[in-house]
Amino acid sequence: MCGIVGYVGPNSSVAVLLGGLSRLQYRGYDSAGLAVLGSDGVLETRKHAGKLKILIDDVDASPLVDGQTGIGHTRWATHGGPTDGNAHPHLGDDGKLALIHNGIIENFAPLKQELLDVGETFTSETDSEVAAVLVGRAFRETGDLTLAMRQVVARLEGAFTLLVVHQDRPGEVVGARHISPLVIGLGDGENFLGSDVAAFVEHTRRAVEIGDDQIVTIRPDSVEVTDFAGAPVDTREYEVAWDASASEKGGWSSFMRKEISEEPDAVYNTLLGRVLDGAVAFPDLGGLDDSVLKSIDRIVIIACGTAAYAGMLGKYAIEAWARVPVEVALSHEFRYSDPILNERTLVISVSQSGETMDTLMAVKFAKEGGARGLSICNTMGSSIPRESDAVIYTHAGPEVAVASTKAFVAQITALYLFGLHLAAVRGSLSAAEVSENLTELQAIPAKLAEVLVASAGIGELAGWMADTRSVLFLGRHVGFPVALEGALKLKELAYIHAEGFAAGELKHGPIALIEPGQIVFVIVPSPRDPSSLHPKVVSNIQEIRARGARVIAIAEKGDAAVLPFADEVIPIPLAAPLFEPLLSVVPLHIFALELATAKGLDVDQPRNLAKSVTVE
Ligand code: AGP
Ligand code: GLU
Repeated sequence: MCGIVGYVGPNSSVAVLLGGLSRLQYRGYDSAGLAVLGSDGVLETRKHAGKLKILIDDVDASPLVDGQTGIGHTRWATHGGPTDGNAHPHLGDDGKLALIHNGIIENFAPLKQELLDVGETFTSETDSEVAAVLVGRAFRETGDLTLAMRQVVARLEGAFTLLVVHQDRPGEVVGARHISPLVIGLGDGENFLGSDVAAFVEHTRRAVEIGDDQIVTIRPDSVEVTDFAGAPVDTREYEVAWDASASEKGGWSSFMRKEISEEPDAVYNTLLGRVLDGAVAFPDLGGLDDSVLKSIDRIVIIACGTAAYAGMLGKYAIEAWARVPVEVALSHEFRYSDPILNERTLVISVSQSGETMDTLMAVKFAKEGGARGLSICNTMGSSIPRESDAVIYTHAGPEVAVASTKAFVAQITALYLFGLHLAAVRGSLSAAEVSENLTELQAIPAKLAEVLVASAGIGELAGWMADTRSVLFLGRHVGFPVALEGALKLKELAYIHAEGFAAGELKHGPIALIEPGQIVFVIVPSPRDPSSLHPKVVSNIQEIRARGARVIAIAEKGDAAVLPFADEVIPIPLAAPLFEPLLSVVPLHIFALELATAKGLDVDQPRNLAKSVTVE
């Protein structure tokens, strides 16, 4: 999920690699490292947890061999915390091979056990090191780095971009990609590899995309691309059209726009390795084993802001599937509400950063009260997971923009996975019912990609609203937390008053706010929804339209009933009711981004806000 650079050529690979990693910093990371191969066949690696500067200062203080072949990596930890030992590169073939990896190797555990059984040893907790040892063993047998890579990728499951170098193969870098990104930079007597063109754009603008399930071997004067079976494949060269500033964000105009575009991947990667034969597969839920989960008689979800809205959606799903009472509490309220806690209470904390002080203190308070703790977190090695009995990491990748978007859909995904796991353990859902819901969840990434395309026109919609002073959001049932999230995004990005309401609550007071021209977004439930909320929400729309509101409906594709009553309709793909929020929230994220952009505001660093609120 993070940064990769590869280089072969006449220049100092250390300088090229560190320069490339610097330009890839926008992708966010927690560790950095590189491996350099000198022309005399000496392979040296250097790696550190923390910011790239730590690595750069170390290399400056004690220089590496200055070879012309090398690979560099910035890591966003998914397996094993951000430590020097878990940083990449990882070694194989008795230290003669170095490998870097972006992504998640789903089946690393059985592969690691197989290697341990034949006497291999490991120095890290990562999934990536398994690939390094495998490629090292394959190279020892074949003497051919490309063939070794081909043999190994055939055994890997998950999402991966791998680069390897071997001290017996100076002047050669071999890469492979399956789902995670990789691109070639073509130079004159030198060639490059990168997670994206930012890795080498300062050296060349000639790029070649590498297709999925392909292997590339670069040498100073040649580039060979094959499929995983070894058959050569056609490639297309293109000119990189970026300017220097854009490359700070990988070509995106803002981190927020980039991260919204990553929402499908955030869900996909959070599911990766956690669904097996139609059942939830959590490799390690620590102290929350089945017997503990069966003993739980109450769940409290604690979080702040956007994470709390994810928690509200988790409540609907966990109660529906596991039939355990769930309440959602704002972390800063929970701690002072004198809650009833005991060993049968499960407190689930939801936090992207894992450092939100309100939530961290609430987690500690719950632990002292005897409750069990589960953390849903996007940041490996952060404080909140360390205080919990178990953690389910979201694999949204680093979220740099202050406004949380891709982490939100990943949090919902993780909560839904847990709800289905709990239901399976407690027998409240049959295996078939669990499988059916997992199929719905696994269909979300593709549907999210569809929503991103369907939402392309929202920029124009936001354009004519640039001077609006107030926007309301209405939703019902699972649409209500989406309404709250839409309002929060607009507040924190466009600095205008916005409020989310439960649609049924409007007539109990808030409808007094409606005056001619008032903009109201309405999250419309599916007309196929058995709870028949759809006609009620359509009635709510008529109530506000009768008073002059301008209604923008987020509605299921083909919902004709809403058309006569809305000024604009933004369609979303069909999904079962509990899964609709994962889709209906995206147009609201985009609307907030576009309105703030139309107002010329900084969408990545809104005024007064911090990405992680580490004060109470
Ligand atoms: C979301 O857009 C806001 N930046 C904020 O509400 C955030 O969700 C909240 O501070 C919680 O942060 P956390 O997920 O890192 O704990
Ligand atoms: N899964 C690997 C790890 O945890 C790679 C993570 C990444 O893409 O940076 O080390």
